[in-house]
This record gives sequence, structure tokens and C-alpha cells, in this order.
Amino acid sequence: MDALECISTRRSIRRFLNVPVDFETIMTIVEAGSLAPSSGNVQDWKFIVVDNKDLMKKISEHSLGQECVHNAAFLIVVCSDPEQTEIHYGLRGQRLYTVQNCAAAAENMLLAAHALGLGGVWVGAFDEEKIRELLDIPKKARPQAILAFGYPDEVPDYKRVKDLRTITYFNSYGASIKKIHRVLRDYSVDWEARIRQAHTTIGRLRENAQKATQKAGKKMGEKGGSLFQKYKEVFNKGRGLRRKKHRN
Ligand SMILES: Cc1cc2nc3c(=O)[nH]c(=O)nc-3n(C[C@H](O)[C@H](O)[C@H](O)COP(=O)(O)O)c2cc1C
Repeated sequence: MDALECISTRRSIRRFLNVPVDFETIMTIVEAGSLAPSSGNVQDWKFIVVDNKDLMKKISEHSLGQECVHNAAFLIVVCSDPEQTEIHYGLRGQRLYTVQNCAAAAENMLLAAHALGLGGVWVGAFDEEKIRELLDIPKKARPQAILAFGYPDEVPDYKRVKDLRTITYFNSYGASIKKIHRVLRDYSVDWEARIRQAHTTIGRLRENAQKATQKAGKKMGEKGGSLFQKYKEVFNKGRGLRRKKHRN
């Protein structure tokens, strides 16, 4: 899937199959977030991966009880850690750049998940203070977005997108070109075709996701195990190797 296809076929997914997602896939998504642009490359974000079901239930309760938060395979809570941004860019950095940096990272992660055959949704409606308490987020940091991910169990409806002619100005705000279709024709026709194709592609992706889930399920076992456990296994394996190397 190329970048434009990924952008035009991504939709918010709120219903997920009850299948775990493997650790490598989760970390690929996190890495996509870490590659986002940020003001002065400050990378003022922290990503909290949550796969503990009890914790996810509590997070959902403080996110207007949204089912997608509870039923996802895992969540990534995107937090800003604005200290450096504030030092470099003052109030503008603190108020605007930290939000924009985290938003760029969030969108990168949603697109990466989609490219990997997963679905995701950006959840902004949550009680910041409760989420802070639940996840031990210090005062200096701020939870900006909760992203819920999993293998999709729905094909979203066709998305209505605003006509480019109503949202595009040239050289000054409000300056539309009367015969803009002449200027935008090629692009808008392309985009419309892409969006029309999105439904078919999403259907195909769903089939792929179902195949991937079967593979993932087999690999991880029905219960999946906790992310922490998997991390420990990977860490211990690495430690074994390091010790061996040391002895040699
Ligand atoms: C800042 C922000 C907050 C959002 N909050 C929620 C939310 O709390 N719950 C939800 O279901 N979707 C939420 N969404 C997802 C939007 O509803 C969704 O992106 C929008 O309807 C467009 O649909 P699409 O993502 O399928 O293109 C949020 C999106 C953004 C960018």
C-alpha cells in the first residue's frame, strides 16, 4: 500500500476482533509515532502502551464509557512532555507546538496501524485528571490523546469529504479561483477515485486482517499474555546473550 492509498483508505475503527496483536507490530506502530515531525525535532512525546484489560476498562470509564477503548487489543496514550519545548519556544511552544507535535505522532501511528492491517481510532474525549491518576502521569506531562487499536471487526461507511473548492484558497484567505476545477481537476478526480476505491480496499484489508489475526492468534496462543510478560521474555533473552558474550 503506498502512502496516498494509506491516507485515503484509513478510517476510524471502533469495533475490534478479540485477537491479540503481537509485540513487534505494537512496537512498529510506536516507532512510526516517534518518526513524526516535531518543532525543532524536540520529540516532546511519551507513549504509554496499555494492554492490561482491567486498566483499559477503567480508562474507558473515564472516556465517556466508550466501548472502543475497552474492547481494543491495546491502547497508546500519547502524552506531551513540554519542558524542552517551553525552554526553546516559550508560550507558543507550550500551548501550540506540544499539541501539534503529539497530533503528528498520533496520525503517524494511526496510518502505520492501517498499513499493517490493523484498525485504530483517536479518542480525545476523556477525563485528563483521571487518566493521569490511573497511569501515574506526572504533573509536568499531559495526556493528549488515547489511541485504541486492534484487528478491525467493521467496514466503515463511505466518508463524506468536503469539496476541495470550499477549503482551498490561493495566495490569501478567502481567495478562491472561479474556475478552480480547471486547476484542481486532475487532483480532485484522482482523490475522488481513491476515496471511492476505499470501500473495496477496506473490505480487502479486513480479509487480510482476518488472516493475520489467525496467524497472530496461533503465534501468541489464545490468551495472548501481557505485554509486560512479552517484554520480560525479550529482555531476558537479550540479557542471556549479553552474559554469554561477557563470559566469552
Ligand atoms: C482530536 C480528535 C478527537 C477525537 N475524539 C474521538 C472520540 O472521543 N471518540 C471517537 O469515537 N472518535 C473520536 N475521534 C475520531 C473522529 O470522530 C474521526 O476521526 C472523524 O469522525 C473522521 O472519521 P475518520 O477518522 O474515519 O476519517 C477524534 C478525532 C480527533 C482528531
